[in-house]
Amino acid sequence: MKIIRSKSELRELTRGWRVSGESIGVVPTMGALHDGHLSLVSAACARCDRVIVTLFVNPKQFNNPEDLEKYPRTEDSDAVKLAPYDVDVLYVPDGAQMYPDGFATTISVDGVSDGLCGATRPGHFDGVATVVAKLLRQSDADFAFFGEKDYQQVQVVRRVSEDLDLNCEIVPCPTVREDSGLALSSRNLRLDDAARQRASIIHATLSETARAIASGQEAGSALDKARGSLLAHGLGPIDYLEMRRERDLAVVQDNTAPARLFVAVWLDGVRLIDNLAIG
Ligand code: PAJ
Repeated sequence: MKIIRSKSELRELTRGWRVSGESIGVVPTMGALHDGHLSLVSAACARCDRVIVTLFVNPKQFNNPEDLEKYPRTEDSDAVKLAPYDVDVLYVPDGAQMYPDGFATTISVDGVSDGLCGATRPGHFDGVATVVAKLLRQSDADFAFFGEKDYQQVQVVRRVSEDLDLNCEIVPCPTVREDSGLALSSRNLRLDDAARQRASIIHATLSETARAIASGQEAGSALDKARGSLLAHGLGPIDYLEMRRERDLAVVQDNTAPARLFVAVWLDGVRLIDNLAIG
């Protein structure tokens, strides 16, 4: 695996791959890799001739400067974790590569960016859309792999790729969970053991609520019960707990079209998100 830090060097390499007709997959990450990230790497290696993993802690998507500062930066151990996979390039651009002096363009996606995390983290998805558009162009990828753990992000980057004719298929990959059901996240490291155990109630509550709605219970009352359950287990505040249509994340009152539950909730000062398909 080659570590590349400049977009021109990356372009030289991808140009050669293109000429020999090889397909290119990219896995965008901010590092601090865990098994969730590695499942995307594995999916990319299975599907593509060439695989690029990107590592860039994107300042434009943090709406809280402290969060950006605290974000773990672990390039060396990330490279070690990638070693068993058939990854061609770990692309680690620095801030000047991504946002040189004079950089002035922001990509903003209407609709799917609006609610959920878009409402509670203003500007976050503009930052995601802008950096992902750049990473897809820079890697010249045919396929880009994203986790359903961040389902709204998947919908945002799908729109970006389609709307800007980036010719890159967005491949969603299932959420990887701990045995307790807790979705893997670099933020889990900030929880102590007791809090981590308590956090398993998030997935348990989503599962129970999804089952209730799928078997005909009225969604509003099922969601109220779910909120009560999270709060009773000492989680909170709840940023949101909602049911949305999968296709465009529109608010829906029933699951006649495929729908999903979405939650963002705080536990011991750590904001955790998760989602689950109904039925
Ligand atoms: P990051 O949080 O590092 O996540 C990188 C990718 O890993 C995302 O597609 C995310 O959905 C996926 N992922 C995280 N936890 C997962 C889990 N438990 N199961 C499956 N996939 C999981 O998401 C970002 O970085 C950034 O917003 C990025 C897209 C890189 C743009 O800066």
